[in-house]
Amino acid sequence: MYNITLIPGDGIGLEITEAVKTVVDAAGVAVQWDLQQVGQTALEECGNPLPQSVIDSIKVNKVALKGPVTTHVAKGFKSISVTLRQTFDLYANIRQVKSLPGITTLYKDIDIVIFRENTEDLYAGIENVINEDRVEAIKVITRQASRRIADKAFEYARQNRRKKITAVHKANIMKKSDGLFLEETRKAAQQYKDIQYDEMIVDNACMQLVQQPQNFDVIVTENLYGDIISDLCAGLVGGLGVVPGINVGEDYTIFEAVHGSAPDIAGRNIANPLALLLSAVEMLRFLGEHEAAQSIQKAVYGLLKEKRYLTPDLGGSATTAEMAKELCRLVACK
Ligand code: NAI
Repeated sequence: MYNITLIPGDGIGLEITEAVKTVVDAAGVAVQWDLQQVGQTALEECGNPLPQSVIDSIKVNKVALKGPVTTHVAKGFKSISVTLRQTFDLYANIRQVKSLPGITTLYKDIDIVIFRENTEDLYAGIENVINEDRVEAIKVITRQASRRIADKAFEYARQNRRKKITAVHKANIMKKSDGLFLEETRKAAQQYKDIQYDEMIVDNACMQLVQQPQNFDVIVTENLYGDIISDLCAGLVGGLGVVPGINVGEDYTIFEAVHGSAPDIAGRNIANPLALLLSAVEMLRFLGEHEAAQSIQKAVYGLLKEKRYLTPDLGGSATTAEMAKELCRLVACK
């Protein structure tokens, strides 16, 4: 029996976590889900958007599956997702962007893995109001964080037989901060001479990703660029509904999709649960439950290939619950 912290989040989070839970249960993995509320719901219920009970639960369980959490624009509490990543020092945000069977886009054979530094950069949250007409945000880049994300990416590349790492930066303008990031990625590259290494300025990288995404293999980058590039890459393979993610630290791991709480479709039972489900597949692999992971992945690929029970973002008309039910059926009769 695994004890796993389950954070449904809000918006579409409630619908998709429920769907994912049923599919994981159908795969026969015994999980005791420790349900924890964060964000606006937690703020209303106990006066804190990130209650201590959530932190305690993750500390004990070490593994969490997390839905998206709404963060208000230009007001309100600090992002819960960012706070969790910083609290548990989840320094690597790993996002696998892959062409999937049955999903037709402008591109074929995309297989990119993004390693996004997850703890610093402009996300350090240091914003100073100098006066009513001037605000300064501080970008924090450290040697240690740059090196460990670079090492993580190279280690992954070696273990997974990937050929090339591209460091994405803006060191032509931010010569010192992005310069330090590059200094460390270059040092890491020296230690992994079996992996090809190149560098690309972020604006050019965006253009190349749209024109020739197949030229990319593994990308290592800072927090803000990684956030933006992840969504861009999701758009290449069918959208945010199909791209999973993992936040990795030394001691804790939180699995969550790339997408947000999608308020535009929340509560309508049409959100695509696959991004979170594929994150859960990675979680099962992490736990050593390879057979269950494989059977869920097979069911997902089967559904996509046959274009059955798909949610509207994938061109279908199924509800979240209908898609989950069919996935449970496929997984149960594997
Ligand atoms: P979003 O990712 O929530 O939505 C962008 C677009 O993609 C929307 O049109 C949405 O309907 C669609 N979409 C996203 N996930 C989908 C799914 N599973 N199935 C079908 N369509 C899907 O980004 P947005 O609108 O910029 O942010 C909404 C809120 O989410 C904000 O408050 C933001 O701060 C928060 N957010 C939270 C994240 C997290 O908790 N990890 C990550 C990103 C955003």
